[in-house]
Amino acid sequence: MSEVVSYDREGAIGIITVNYPPVNALGHAVRTGLLEALKQGQTDNDAKMLLVVCEGRTFVAGADIREFGKPMQEPGLVTVINTFESSDKPVVAAIHGTALGGGLELALGCHYRIALDSARVGLPEVKLGLLPGAGGTQRLPRLTGAKKALEMITTGEFVKADDALEAGIIDAVAQGDNSRTIGLEYAAKLIAEDKPVRRVRDITDKISADQGTEVFEAFRNNLTAKARGLFSPFKCVDAVEAAFSLPFDEGMKRERELFIECMESPQRGGLVHAFFAEREVSKVPGLPKDTPVRDVKSVGVIGAGTMGGGIAMNFANAGIPVTIVELKQEALDKGLSVIRKNYESSAKKGRITTAQVEERMALIKTSLSYDDFKSVDLVIEAVFENMDIKKQIFGQLDKVCKPGAILASNTSTLDIDEIASATSRPEDVVGMHFFSPANVMKLLENVRGTKTSDEVKATVMALAKKIGKVGVMVGNCYGFVGNRMLHRRGAEATALVNEGASPQQVDKVLTDLGFPMGQFAMSDLAGIDVGYSIRKERRKSGEDIPANWMDTLAEEGRLGQKTMAGVYQYEEGNRKPVVDPKVDELIAGFRKEQGIEPRAITDQEILERCMYVMVNEGAKILEEGIADRSLDIDIVWIYGYGFPAYHGGPMFWADQVGVKTIYETVKRFHDTVGGDQWKPSELLAKLASENKKFGDL
Ligand code: CAA
Repeated sequence: MSEVVSYDREGAIGIITVNYPPVNALGHAVRTGLLEALKQGQTDNDAKMLLVVCEGRTFVAGADIREFGKPMQEPGLVTVINTFESSDKPVVAAIHGTALGGGLELALGCHYRIALDSARVGLPEVKLGLLPGAGGTQRLPRLTGAKKALEMITTGEFVKADDALEAGIIDAVAQGDNSRTIGLEYAAKLIAEDKPVRRVRDITDKISADQGTEVFEAFRNNLTAKARGLFSPFKCVDAVEAAFSLPFDEGMKRERELFIECMESPQRGGLVHAFFAEREVSKVPGLPKDTPVRDVKSVGVIGAGTMGGGIAMNFANAGIPVTIVELKQEALDKGLSVIRKNYESSAKKGRITTAQVEERMALIKTSLSYDDFKSVDLVIEAVFENMDIKKQIFGQLDKVCKPGAILASNTSTLDIDEIASATSRPEDVVGMHFFSPANVMKLLENVRGTKTSDEVKATVMALAKKIGKVGVMVGNCYGFVGNRMLHRRGAEATALVNEGASPQQVDKVLTDLGFPMGQFAMSDLAGIDVGYSIRKERRKSGEDIPANWMDTLAEEGRLGQKTMAGVYQYEEGNRKPVVDPKVDELIAGFRKEQGIEPRAITDQEILERCMYVMVNEGAKILEEGIADRSLDIDIVWIYGYGFPAYHGGPMFWADQVGVKTIYETVKRFHDTVGGDQWKPSELLAKLASENKKFGDL
C-alpha cells in the first residue's frame, strides 16, 4: 500500500486520501498511489462511489515542481487523470485550501466537485513559464467557456469557491472545516439521486457555443502589452483554442506539444528559480527557525511624505494601527490626504470596498509629538537621507520608546550601525528598506546592523510576510544590496551616454531585456535630484565621482516626472517618456566641454556594461557576506526593481550567460574602461576558474 495515498470506506463510499505534506504535490509516489487506490476502489464491491480528499493544509497544489527538468517517471499525470475520468464508478473530489495546477486538473478529471467555502482553485502554471499540461486547457473551457478559461489560464489567478461555482468549475460549495465530511455528505446525496459518471471530456455545449468567436485574437492582442517578453501566456491561448478546434484527444495531444515547448523554454528555468528563491529568502542562514518573534501590535512612522505614507498604508492594510509623526501639521494633512486618495482610487478599481477605505483610514493616527510613540512596538523612520538628522531622531526615539520597541530606519543607503550608535540599544535597531511606491512594491530589504539581535531580525522578517511583502535579510554597507548594484548600473549608463550612446538607446537595451523601464526613465520617476544629492554628498566626503550631464540636468531644474522634464519630457497626465532634443543638445554640450569625441556604441556593449557591472558588484556583495546567497540578490532585484522574473534575477541570469564569459569581459573592461567598478570580484574569478556557477555556492 502507498505511504502517501490511502484507501478506506465509509458505507457505500470509497475514500482515496492523499497525505503528502506540505502541499500534497503530485510527485511520483502520489501519482502511483492514486492509481493504486483508484484500483482498490474500483474492485471494492461495497463502494458505489469514490471520493478524493487530502489531508493537511490543502487539496493537491499541483505537480511537484521539484521534478521539473528531471526525467519523467511513469505514470505521468495525464495517465493518472485520464484513468480517474475513465472510472466506471463516479468519482467526487472534495476540495479544501487550494486546488492548483495539476491539483485542479485532477479534480477536473473527477466526475463531481465540491469545495469548502474557504477554498480557492486556479491554474497558475503560467507563473512558472508553463501551461496546464494535464488536460487543464482542454477540460476547463468545457466547463466555463472560452473567456473565463483564458482569463484563468493566462493570468494564473486563483478563483474563490463561490466564483468557481458560478463559473461552472465546481458543482457545490459547503460551509465547514473538513473536506472529508462535506465530501461524504455530498457523495451520499449523489448516490441517493442515482447520479451517473459525468466526464468533462464529453461536455460540449460551451465548446460549440464559443466556436469561431474572436475571443482568442482579442486575448492575444491584450497579452502583447500585458505579458511583454513572456513566452508561455501565448502558448496558453494556443492550447485553449485547440479545445475549440479539435476533438478532445487531439486537443490533448496539442496541449502536450505546447507544454513541452514551454518546459524547454529558458523562461521556465528562470521562473521556477524565482518561485523557490522567494520561499528560500524567508529562511535566513544562521537565524534559528525557532527564534522568538516580538508581537507588533502598533507601529509608529516618522515622516508623512511619499515613503512614510506608503509604509503606513502597509500596516493599516494588515489591520495594525499606525501613528505618523511629522514636524508640521500641514505635512500631516497633506500626507493623510494622499493616503486617502490612494485608498479611494483602489476602491474605484474595485480592489477594496468603500467600508474598507474608512476602516483603514481609522487605523492611521497623526501627531506632532514623539510622545505618541511611547507605547508602540515598532517605529520606522522615513525622513530624507541625512545622517545627522537620522541620528538626532534615533537619539530622541531612544528616550521615548518603551524597552523592547524595535527602532527601524527606512534608509536606502546609510550606515545602520552609525544610526544605531545614537541609541543606548543598538540590538533593537534595524534597517527596513521599503521600495517606492511602498504600498505597492513587494520587496522589503531588512538590514541587519552588527549588533541587531536575532529576535529583532526574526521579527522584521515575520512582519514582512504579515504585511504581504517579500522580506530579504541583508548586511550593512553603502546602498545594501539593491541600491549598491543600482548605483553601479546608473554610473555606467551615464558614462555610456558621455561616450556617445543616447539615453533612449541605453533604456531600450534594458527594456528589451525585460525591465519595465530603463535606467533613465527610472531616474526620472525617482527624481534626478535624488542621485544628484547623493553624488554631491559623496564628492564632499572625498570620493572621485567625475562631473556628468545628469548633474547639469539637476542644476537646470529638470528633476524628472515631478517637473515634467528630466532626461525625457512628459505631457500632462501621461507618464510616457518622450525624447527631448534639448537634452541631446545638453549632452552634446557636455561632451564638447569635456573634450569627448562621441563614438558609436553597440547595444551589446550597453548590455554588457550595464549588466556585468551589476553582476560583478553582486559577486562582491556575496564575497563580503552582505547577501547570504545569490538567490537573495535575485529576489531583491525581481521585487525591488522589476528585474524580469523569467530571467530568474541578475545572478541566475549571469549563470545562464556563463560566469566565465562575464569574468573575461569584466577583466577587459577593467583594462579598457577602468575604474573600481570593473575591478573583478575575487569570487567571480574563483567561480570562473573552477567552471562553477553562483547557483553552486
Ligand atoms: N511542488 C513542490 N513544492 C511545492 C509546490 C509544488 N507544486 N507548491 C509549494 N511547494 C512547497 C514550497 O516550496 C514550500 O516549501 P518549503 O516549505 O520547503 O519552502 C512549501 O511547499 C509551502 O509552500 P508556501 O511557502 O508557498 O506555502 P503557502 O501556504 O504560502 O502557499 C501554495 C501554498 C498556495 C500552494 C503555494 O505554495 C503555491 O502557489 N504553490 C505553487 C502552485 C503551483 O504553481 N502549482 C502548479 C504546479 S505546475 C503544474 O501543476 C503543471 C501541470 O499542469 C502538470
